[in-house]
Amino acid sequence: MPNLPATGLRALAFAIARAWGSAEEEAAIVADHLVAANLAGHDSHGVGMLPTYVRVFRQGCLVPNRELRTVADAGAVLVFDADRGVGQRMAKLAVAQGIERARALGAAVVALRDSCHIGRIGAYGEQAAAAGLVFLGFVNVADHDPVVAPFGAAEARLGTNPFCAALPAAAGEEPAVLLDMATSTIAFGKARVARNKGLPVPEGTLLDREGRPTTDPAPMVDRFEGALTAFGLHKGSGLAILCELLGAALTGGQTITDPMRHGIVNNMLAILIDPARFATGERGPAAVAAVADWIRAARPAPGFDRVRLPGEPERESRARRLAEGVPIDERSLEEILEAGVALGLDRVRLAATARGEG
Ligand SMILES: NC(=O)c1ccc[n+]([C@@H]2O[C@H](COP(=O)([O-])OP(=O)(O)OC[C@H]3O[C@@H](n4cnc5c(N)ncnc54)[C@H](O)[C@@H]3O)[C@@H](O)[C@H]2O)c1
Repeated sequence: MPNLPATGLRALAFAIARAWGSAEEEAAIVADHLVAANLAGHDSHGVGMLPTYVRVFRQGCLVPNRELRTVADAGAVLVFDADRGVGQRMAKLAVAQGIERARALGAAVVALRDSCHIGRIGAYGEQAAAAGLVFLGFVNVADHDPVVAPFGAAEARLGTNPFCAALPAAAGEEPAVLLDMATSTIAFGKARVARNKGLPVPEGTLLDREGRPTTDPAPMVDRFEGALTAFGLHKGSGLAILCELLGAALTGGQTITDPMRHGIVNNMLAILIDPARFATGERGPAAVAAVADWIRAARPAPGFDRVRLPGEPERESRARRLAEGVPIDERSLEEILEAGVALGLDRVRLAATARGEG
């Protein structure tokens, strides 16, 4: 498996986004977002998404250069419709407006409807935390075959509906805590990565078409056959259902029960809170730091080197991959090059770009 430099992958993603018609600013946002996901260790939401984006672009379900449309502005509540715009830019713009509103009012609730895939939700948690705000995001996945079985079900009824929570540290620093997760036991893209590497998925993460446990990701990835399990039994399943209800049903976005065009849509309910409004003075940030230290100082269980907070594995991955490059398996790279060729790009030049030679 070759390691490719982040700069090469960014140039590759930028070239493909430009080729589907995104203006420079939008292409740069997509490329930065995807490579940041790879650097964070989430290859499921990195440049490996490009073939999916090209497919949904070609069927009219990803529309470049959309204006973010304000549907309602009710003070603390802002509702935007992305009209299937490029999700990484739509969500970034919506969260930016939420940040302004939360700074003015102390808190803001942002609904983003009908966006094409917005990628790694942690990016928006980081955006809010960098502005000194707490972030809670409930997201559904729609316009797509269901892939996750609710607790007790033998078949899929939900998307991988991610949840994200971020707490800021000092201004300009990385979030103190960044919990960013699919509500399935593993993200769908992780099953795709396993299939591309010819590896099984971990036990307990997947059901076959009869609802029996399996570790073979191919039927799910190739034909949406079977179902991923919801994480944490009935509790995680409950959170997945809440992401569907809060992210889409409440906000007027597309739910899993609406007719499908087989694109990939995300709807998000984001809550932004200014922690300064709790009037804790220095006690609030000090208490966050104290709790974080307390958790980290726990004696590690057998098989663990140390105890981490949510967000730390991604930070460690970023440092490692910036130094060593990003491992991309041959099949995933091949699929990305094919996607570029389908948009009229030259395969040899694109491969050189990915290696950082472009
Ligand atoms: N846009 C979409 O439709 C969509 C759908 C599903 C998932 N996603 C994205 O997929 C990505 C991957 O999700 P995932 O569920 O596979 O993530 P994951 O299981 O790798 O990590 C989930 C969370 O657990 C934390 N964590 C992991 N290992 C830890 C450890 N040893 N100690 C402490 N904390 C630890 C991570 O920091 C992270 O906050 C996320 O960025 C998510 O936003 C997006």
